[in-house]
Amino acid sequence: MKQFKIVILLFTLYTASVKSQHLEDYKLWLKYERIESKTVLQSYADLVSQVYFPTDNEVLENAKNELSTALPNMLGKPVEFSENLAESTLIIDRYDQLPNALQKLIKEDVDNLNDEGYVIKTVAYNNKNISLVSAKTNIGILYGTFRLLNLMQMNEDLAGVSLADSPKIDLRMLNHWDNLDRSVERGYAGFSLWNWQKLPEYIDQRYIDYARANASVGINATVLTNVNANALVLTPMYLEKVEALAKVFRGYGIKVYLTARFSAPIEIGNLKTADPLNEEVQKWWSNKAKEIYARIPDFGGFLVKANSEGQPGPQNYGRNHVDGANMMATALKPFGGNVIWRAFVYSEHDDTDRAKQAYDEFLPYDGKFKDNVVVQVKNGAIDFQPREPFHPLFGALKETPIAMEFQITQEYLGFSTHLVFLPKLFIEVLEADTYQKGPGSTVAKVVDGSLYNNAISAMAGVSNIGNDLNWTGHPFAQANWYGFGRLAWNPYLSADEIAEEWLRTTYSNDKKFIEPIKEMMLTSREAVVNYMNPLGLHHIFDTGHHYGPGPWVDNLSRPDWNPVYYHKADENGIGFDRTDTGSNATEQYAPFLEKKFNDPATTPEMFLLWFHHLPWDYKLKSGNSLWDGIALKYQKGVDQVSTMNATWENAKPFLTAHEYEEVKMLLQIQLKEAKWWRNACLLYFQTFSKRPLPKGVEQPNKSLEEYRSLKFPFAPGIRPQWN
Ligand code: GCU
Repeated sequence: MKQFKIVILLFTLYTASVKSQHLEDYKLWLKYERIESKTVLQSYADLVSQVYFPTDNEVLENAKNELSTALPNMLGKPVEFSENLAESTLIIDRYDQLPNALQKLIKEDVDNLNDEGYVIKTVAYNNKNISLVSAKTNIGILYGTFRLLNLMQMNEDLAGVSLADSPKIDLRMLNHWDNLDRSVERGYAGFSLWNWQKLPEYIDQRYIDYARANASVGINATVLTNVNANALVLTPMYLEKVEALAKVFRGYGIKVYLTARFSAPIEIGNLKTADPLNEEVQKWWSNKAKEIYARIPDFGGFLVKANSEGQPGPQNYGRNHVDGANMMATALKPFGGNVIWRAFVYSEHDDTDRAKQAYDEFLPYDGKFKDNVVVQVKNGAIDFQPREPFHPLFGALKETPIAMEFQITQEYLGFSTHLVFLPKLFIEVLEADTYQKGPGSTVAKVVDGSLYNNAISAMAGVSNIGNDLNWTGHPFAQANWYGFGRLAWNPYLSADEIAEEWLRTTYSNDKKFIEPIKEMMLTSREAVVNYMNPLGLHHIFDTGHHYGPGPWVDNLSRPDWNPVYYHKADENGIGFDRTDTGSNATEQYAPFLEKKFNDPATTPEMFLLWFHHLPWDYKLKSGNSLWDGIALKYQKGVDQVSTMNATWENAKPFLTAHEYEEVKMLLQIQLKEAKWWRNACLLYFQTFSKRPLPKGVEQPNKSLEEYRSLKFPFAPGIRPQWN
């Protein structure tokens, strides 16, 4: 009997390992699998038959280690490192170290690089073709090495390669919304990576692998803690732990930032006030900066959420955002640190349209911040919805460096259960034209600093990383981490190339697999918009946790937390009038866009109900009435998820059992939840439209009351409660 039980147990463990997350998933896009094609294998073996890679510091050591692990895996034999440059086939070295003859061959490329860029080039040297990876700095070499390995993973032809690449954005940062108790606000991939209790002595291998993954896509900054900050992280006990993490990350070119709670001088400094104009407070922050830099000489600086959603800030003392940000900037300046000051503000005492408030509040401050302050703005004016028009502050702030804040974690996009390829969303925003300096003034140009020649450029992504074995909960959510990094490096990349790179390094180089799965990824974002928030609808999520639909919610303490505030459905129609007859949020855009958005006929239909309240029988471009159009979009979203399921089924021959099973299970949940969204929203909106569902839209199988009664007190992403 006992034996029988053991057999059952082993069997269960075996099947569990086939079905759920797998050790392979841990490796992310750095799998370095054996290259199958014999020709490719041979050409790479020739390329690396003798490698010259001198190292005199940690960053270079890390690059060399990566190569030493990756090459034998991919090629099936150890790497031959050599001290003899003249005889080597692959030379990886800083430009200033190269012999003159080699320098000459790449001088022009190197001159055009910035400090983090690299060159990968085949050159004729000593009567033979050799490959050269070079850069001005150590970090450039690390990035170049990762790129070389990335190209090899994709089986790219490297004979005759000539590539020079530099990041277009200075600060490419992850924002972790991680709390000191290891819960992660809006985190859907387990608990925080940072094991505060075991730090500083215990260095988890995960910290190193996290840094490798980030460096491989060029992420060079990380904010370790939640924007809803806890001052304790600024105390010596925690700073010692932060120092240990910073030490690991330094070797991969990643600077550590912390969130600074504005009231910290009171909470941990025994002061009576945190007034930014008070001298003692200023001194406290200066001393704190000094203390931090004594431990972490390359500390990045502070990220601050102030006077937003109940967080303390300068306004508590009758001061403003400029006073607060500049006070911290002064403290950090002597050490080269930055203040990243968030513009995610909206007040419970202000009844103007929430979408307008950040612009109204921050525009008058343009040009008033110190030169080490960056204002960080979410991509849209409300809150990381499946679709929003770009935030009007982009392009409007002309003399203030402005950082883009994207959300990689899927707070409003189905958590880590739904497959949604976010680079599509990010690129839609980056490509949007602000018209603030004439046509072509895209958000990407604002963010990379080229439109107004800003001294600092930055892009932040709210991390989707946790301690799940596969880091991100959904294996395809790894693509969003990857894609964010790639876009922070180059905001002009296409979603197609990012998806392709990720698929090839994560799953397979087989075109028969890549083409359909890439298509699935590229449509996945539109699918989620369709089954959650079509035609410009927004913020109709259930209360607090934002899991599932809650368009009926109308009882929250602040009007602008209620979904009914955003959709304004009534018997006459649906949508938020933000035109000159309504809240006039359109006025915050450049005149060309203002005009366009003021007229429903010229408003892109994807933003229709964001800007307009329209009658149920308003005629859409398709000829359908608005009601029919909404219903058909919801149905389309569900159909798209059905197609995603079928596409995945067809990919089975290219996948291992666990790869296939885990995504299949998740896609089935996604389909179930897409139907839930469609049914709940249509039944609810139908109580106003009083119209039947059009042909082709499936009848809901539950009543509205049943959907309304669903409660999820323990949904992930909010602080755990024990009862
Ligand atoms: C959203 C999110 C919060 C978060 C906030 C922010 O409102 O739901 O959890 O704190 O954004 O960005 O500050």
